[in-house]
Amino acid sequence: MPQFNDTELTEAVIRSFGETPNPRVKFLMEELVKSLHDFVRKTDLTFDEWGYAIDFLTRTGQKCTSIRQEFILLSDVLGVSMLVDAVNHRERDGATETTVLGPFYVGEHKPMPHGSDISADLPGERMFVQSRVTDLEGKPLAGVPVDVWHADDDGFYDSQKPTYETQGPSSRARFTTDADGRLFFRTILPCSYPIPTDGPVGEMILQVHRHAMRPAHIHFLVDAPGYQPLITHVFIEGDKYLDSDVVFGVKDDLISKVEKRSDAVMPDGKPADESWYLMTYDFRMKPGEGTAPKPMMAAAVDA
Ligand code: BEZ
Ligand code: FE
Repeated sequence: MPQFNDTELTEAVIRSFGETPNPRVKFLMEELVKSLHDFVRKTDLTFDEWGYAIDFLTRTGQKCTSIRQEFILLSDVLGVSMLVDAVNHRERDGATETTVLGPFYVGEHKPMPHGSDISADLPGERMFVQSRVTDLEGKPLAGVPVDVWHADDDGFYDSQKPTYETQGPSSRARFTTDADGRLFFRTILPCSYPIPTDGPVGEMILQVHRHAMRPAHIHFLVDAPGYQPLITHVFIEGDKYLDSDVVFGVKDDLISKVEKRSDAVMPDGKPADESWYLMTYDFRMKPGEGTAPKPMMAAAVDA
């Protein structure tokens, strides 16, 4: 009957993976067990603490539904999502920086013509967004689908509201770049907002005295054939949460100066009946491959 002390136990579990046919699975399992065992040894984890962790993870799973992924939120607030992003995008070669997809991407946004107001029925300060998609040398990329989405003036995404099924999308659309790689649309200035805090992740955030806020941003997913899909945000310069994003998603290059304008016409020559903001941000695509991500919920349901 084998009997192990605390370090021999780690070796024994690692040996138990010896016959794993897939070398990557074997490596991941070995490293996971090493890290977990190190954590238990370093902290002298008590039975109560271990029990709390099991209960916390159980409740995290129970909070997941077809429209909510509490495990991804946990990964986000622990910085794991941004670390996975970092190790997979070490060399950008001048391409636009990436950040988290977030849980509010619903996939295959409704195509809209350039200049459309994607927040026409919503209150808020009006904003004109103009952008250009190019390769690393600045050559425009035409016909590229660009999904955009952001929170409203109260800090909620359309998909968080009960009216989403009946009223359809708002502050979200797909634009396809023109021959010069350009896209432009109207919307409202997004505001900073809290991540959902009514579950175990919110409980953890409160216990460690962190705030739950994300700085104001617009999400972009640029998916050009022959280039790595670009999942990113453009953050609004001056937001008070830029230095303390709850999901650690801010990168300096993704912060955009958003200028207040009072010109009577917007850049597409159409009239403006009140003052408005202008966001200008261009995307540089890195050659490569990859499939655009599925929305988190579909991925969870399909699996
Ligand atoms: C978001 O930006 O939509 C988001 C990202 C991570 C967690 C929660 C929300
Ligand atoms: Fe967001």
